Amino acid sequence: MKILILNGPNLNLLGKREPGVYGSRGFDDYFEELQKRYPNLELAYFQSNVEGELINKLHECGFDFDGIVFNAGAYTHTSIALQDAIRAIKSPVIEVHISNVHQREEFRHKSMISSACKGVICGFGLDSYRLAIEALLA
Ligand code: DQA
Repeated sequence: MKILILNGPNLNLLGKREPGVYGSRGFDDYFEELQKRYPNLELAYFQSNVEGELINKLHECGFDFDGIVFNAGAYTHTSIALQDAIRAIKSPVIEVHISNVHQREEFRHKSMISSACKGVICGFGLDSYRLAIEALLA
């Protein structure tokens, strides 16, 4: 089973960026833990700060991967293009957020991509990604 973890803008700075909100662990380290935890899964990881690159990755993987775990970062709240890309592909996409966006500023309460996703997981720190994998496996 092939699953892509796709991270959007500023998530390359996890571990350094606002640790009070996003924690102090870098994503590469967490990704290694996921690979060890799920040795039978083909897990792929891609991060970009560029909206078009995220769209290209959804197009590239979205017809033969079994699922995509997607943290679109701030593009979550703005991007109709990402919503359209998710609608255009076949693989189920789970929207994830590290923080509980609903406890934060009002502009984070609205997601432009949720309606195109299979489901949404937020607020469990990095564990949100594992929970999304579990949802894809269920
Ligand atoms: C985030 C929440 C977004 O509002 C924010 O812009 C991010 C990270 C999260 O994982 O909690 O960059 O997606």
